[in-house]
Amino acid sequence: MHVKKVCILGGGGFVGHHIASRLAAQGVQLCIPTRRRERVKDLTCLPTAEVVEADIHDPAALATLFREADAVINLVGILHGSRQAFEQAHVELPRKVVEACRAAGVGRLLHMSALGADTASKSVYQQTKARGEALVLAAHGEGLAVTAFRPSVIFGPGDSFLTMFAQMLRLAPVMPLAGAFARFQPVYVADVARAYAESLEEPATFGRAYNLCGPRVYSLEELVRLTAEALGLRRRIIPLGKGATRLMATLMEFKPGRKLMTRDNYYAMLSDNVCAEGHPEPFGAATPLEAVIGYLREQNPRRSYDGFRSQAHR
Ligand SMILES: NC(=O)c1ccc[n+]([C@@H]2O[C@H](COP(=O)([O-])OP(=O)(O)OC[C@H]3O[C@@H](n4cnc5c(N)ncnc54)[C@H](OP(=O)(O)O)[C@@H]3O)[C@@H](O)[C@H]2O)c1
Repeated sequence: MHVKKVCILGGGGFVGHHIASRLAAQGVQLCIPTRRRERVKDLTCLPTAEVVEADIHDPAALATLFREADAVINLVGILHGSRQAFEQAHVELPRKVVEACRAAGVGRLLHMSALGADTASKSVYQQTKARGEALVLAAHGEGLAVTAFRPSVIFGPGDSFLTMFAQMLRLAPVMPLAGAFARFQPVYVADVARAYAESLEEPATFGRAYNLCGPRVYSLEELVRLTAEALGLRRRIIPLGKGATRLMATLMEFKPGRKLMTRDNYYAMLSDNVCAEGHPEPFGAATPLEAVIGYLREQNPRRSYDGFRSQAHR
């Protein structure tokens, strides 16, 4: 299989930017649909990328987008929302994507799931991620080669996880930390992008699902302390237990505007988000967080607008 053109759904997001840059550097033609082109104008600098405004939930739009694609990467996912919104993004969309791939004769589909995806989870995020993953893997065969990826939390330039804690730590000398007990095995975004790029044409990855993790397991408290250290800040971090975290998640859920945490996130945090088997063999060694955490010190002036942009829903 030789992949010349890839359509990346969710290509305008954090992970999408890194995958798109990597594939563009390899000379792969890219089609990146987005709901608002204005927000992802930076992607138009990639020499092989075409960024188009489209409603990807409309099967007719998918048919047009996939017409000349050899492969599709579906990265669309949400962390907060109603049950219906989770269903639409994580289950209905993957179903439409599979149907559109078949109709357009696209032979390759890479799907983004999440570590901990589980139909039995109390978290609707984890439940719907598991159902979406199952349906795309079930579609493997008959001319469509499918691979799914399940990363733990992803870090790197542009992330919203460690960067959010960095912003909070800069503002306050004392930080009560909800979910301090949660355990993750964070994976570097460049390692995720490498896994996508290397599996695109690699038959050994067809029909398989891979957990993606970094080299070490950390509690959320350890991650926030590392973040403070990387920024050179001395901060008092007060770890909150499960009861206080649930209460905080409930309060934040009803706060208007950008959600920092919801009860659904709390339910997901109750299970360790770690890979027993480490980073998958075919994609090389995983990058330690400590080797690259300096990206948190790089203050991009454009990022100061992110809070305003999110409040204005732009
Ligand atoms: N980041 C992590 O730590 C992490 C960990 C595990 C799994 N994942 C999964 O990895 C994927 C990418 O994550 P990310 O961090 O890059 O997310 P992100 O920055 O929020 O980007 C998500 C992308 O999905 C698109 N999208 C979201 N909701 C949509 C909707 N209702 N309809 C159409 N498009 C929609 C957005 O497109 P627009 O350009 O139209 O806004 C955006 O480009 C997600 O599936 C996520 O669940 C992420």
